[in-house]
Amino acid sequence: MAQLRYTINRRRMRVSTQVRELVSSVSLTHKEFIQPLFVEEGIRQSRALENMPGVFSDSSDSLMKQIETDLSFGISKFLLFPVPAGKQADLNDFSFASGVIQDIKTNFGNDVWVAADCCLCSYTTHGHCGVLDTQRDKIDNHLSVVILSRYALQLAQAGASYIAPSDMMDGRISAIRNKLDKHGLDDVGIMSYSAKFSSQLYGPFRDACHSSPAGSTIKDRKSYQLSPSNPEDAILSSIRDAEEGADILMVKPAGWYTDIILRIKEQVSQPLAAYHVSGEYAAIECLAEKGIVNREAAHLELWTALKRAGADIIISYAARESREWILQSRD
Ligand code: PBG
Ligand code: ZN
Repeated sequence: MAQLRYTINRRRMRVSTQVRELVSSVSLTHKEFIQPLFVEEGIRQSRALENMPGVFSDSSDSLMKQIETDLSFGISKFLLFPVPAGKQADLNDFSFASGVIQDIKTNFGNDVWVAADCCLCSYTTHGHCGVLDTQRDKIDNHLSVVILSRYALQLAQAGASYIAPSDMMDGRISAIRNKLDKHGLDDVGIMSYSAKFSSQLYGPFRDACHSSPAGSTIKDRKSYQLSPSNPEDAILSSIRDAEEGADILMVKPAGWYTDIILRIKEQVSQPLAAYHVSGEYAAIECLAEKGIVNREAAHLELWTALKRAGADIIISYAARESREWILQSRD
């Protein structure tokens, strides 16, 4: 575009709230937010999560009250993380997760949209997202995908609206898609964690889900999650997942990876979710507690950055506050 002389005065676009509202091109709506929910087997009442101020892990009962409250705040889309009471060697009992989804559907029916996280790290004795091979020194991708698609089927049969595989194994999207289709569950979608990086920012979540990798020789998730130094892998993984049938793609974490959001949006037409993860949430909460930032304004600014980069959907632990904050915010 030509450099016009009268664009020298840029402040005409900034001088009042009204003009700023008129000329801004990025806006937020609570309708595009997903609220993560933790539900823990065997607890009697909700439990405050360490390092995630304001976020709770629910009991099966308190979860229903939480969802009711969230609905009253205009939040009706959820990402569910079931935390079973015990670890399993043979990974065949997903009844707690299925039961919770059935309860949600019985209580709220189509008033809610529930994506069920589909991963093995809360179930395995070693905390990895897949199972180990017989030598126990590497991940068995094939067997992991077989178990994951079995799990996905049970989640879908229980009433999950979407399956959200967060394991980062190869081939899981097509395996899950085939499994669902074979059982007539073609309305159940897949939201793939297609660009999930190996990150420092998952700590509070792992505490909540008792899912830290421990007790095997593999100490981290680097052999399946993406390297922060390899953006091409994120792009190719996302294109691959879209081709395998993922309905919604995801970038995670969000704030340190807005370049990835932008690049995936350029290359793939599928809707894209940005997951502002537990450590990112905690970072804002810590700064706010110290009085360094204003809590609401910081979350709003971050959400705006995600939308600006190209995210269609925002997953945030503060989603349930989004309607109020957005309504009250001024440009
Ligand atoms: C596990 C899973 C993780 C998150 C979502 N699913 C953690 C991990 O991969 O270790 C992170 C979410 C968050 O930190 O908010 N598959
Ligand atoms: Zn996992």
